[in-house]
Amino acid sequence: MTLTEIIETFKTRFNSSKIMDSLEKVASFNSESDSGSGEKDSEVYLENNPYVNSSGSYVKSPGISRITRDEREPLIKLTNVWKIYQMGEVEFAALKGIDLEIYEGEFLVVLGPSGSGKSTLMNLLGCLDIPSEGTVYLNSEDISELDESELARIRGQMIGFIFQSFNLIPTLSTEENVLLPLEFQEENREAARKKASYLLDIVGLSNKKKNLPSQLSGGQRQRVAIARSLAVNPPIILADEPTGNLDTKTGDYILKFLDGLHEREGKTIIIVTHDLDLVKYATRVVYIRDGEIEKIEERRKNGTEE
Ligand SMILES: Nc1ncnc2c1ncn2[C@@H]1O[C@H](COP(=O)(O)OP(=O)(O)OP(=O)(O)O)[C@@H](O)[C@H]1O
Ligand SMILES: [Mg+2]
Repeated sequence: MTLTEIIETFKTRFNSSKIMDSLEKVASFNSESDSGSGEKDSEVYLENNPYVNSSGSYVKSPGISRITRDEREPLIKLTNVWKIYQMGEVEFAALKGIDLEIYEGEFLVVLGPSGSGKSTLMNLLGCLDIPSEGTVYLNSEDISELDESELARIRGQMIGFIFQSFNLIPTLSTEENVLLPLEFQEENREAARKKASYLLDIVGLSNKKKNLPSQLSGGQRQRVAIARSLAVNPPIILADEPTGNLDTKTGDYILKFLDGLHEREGKTIIIVTHDLDLVKYATRVVYIRDGEIEKIEERRKNGTEE
C-alpha cells in the first residue's frame, strides 16, 4: 500500500464514521427514543433539517403529493422497448423488447451483470433518451410525444439522478454542484444554502464544500452526486450503481438513507446495479441479462422472496 492509499483509506474511514453518526441522528429523530442525550442531539438535528416543517413532518416536494391519479396506474411503463446503438455499419441491440411497469412508491432494484443494459435502461426511465422502438410512458404520457423543454421540466421537478459517472460540473465546487438543481427553483439563496449544507452533512462532506470534483476521491464524488440528486426533494430517485465507489459501510449508510426516504416519504426509488447486496432494500427485483428481462421477483421489504 502506498502512502496515498493509506491516507485515502484513513480519509474514507474517517468520513464513514461521521456518516454513521449523521445516520444515527437522522434515524433517531424518527424513532421514539426517550434517552436523554440522544434525544437532545436529534432535536438539534431536526431543527437543522430544512426538509422538515416546524411540527416535525417531512415537507413533500412542492406541489407534488401524488403523481399518478390512481395507484393502480403505473408511474412508468415500458412496452416492447428496444434500444439499438448504431456504430458505423454495425447495429447493437442493448435492450431487446423490454416490458415493464413501475408503480409509485416502489423500491425497484434492476440487477444485471456489466453490459446487460442497465444504464441504457436507466436513461430511458429517466426520460434522458427515447427508445429505438416501443414506447415509454411516464404517468400515462408517451415521452416521445413531449418536447425537450417539457422533458427537462419533468426531469428537473420529478427525478433525482445519481449517475454512474457522477456527471458533476468540473468547474463548480462541491457546494455549487449541490446548489445547481435548486437554481432552477424559486427559492431564496439562503434557504438553498441550508439545504445544500444539510445534504452535505448527511453524506459526510461538510468539510469539502469548497473543493472541486477533481480534488475529491471517487467515493466523495459519488456522495456529492447523491446530495445533488436529493436537493430538490424529488419524488423519484433514479440511481445507477449508487454504491459502486463507496466502501461497504458508507454504501450501507447511503442505502439506509434512501430506504428511509422510501419508507417515510413514499418516494419511488429505482436502482440499477450488479450488487446483489442491494436486493435486501427492494420491494421488487428485475433481473436483466443481455438486454432482456430474465425474471421479476416480488419481495417483502428487508425480507425474502414472496
Ligand atoms: N453509445 C453507445 N454506443 C454503442 N454501444 C453502446 C453505447 N452505450 C452502451 N452500449 C453497449 O450497450 C450494452 C449495454 O450498455 P450499458 O451501459 O447499458 O450496460 P450496463 O449494464 O450499464 O453495464 P455496467 O454494469 O458495466 O455499467 C453494452 O454492450 C455497451 O457496450
Ligand atoms: Mg452502467
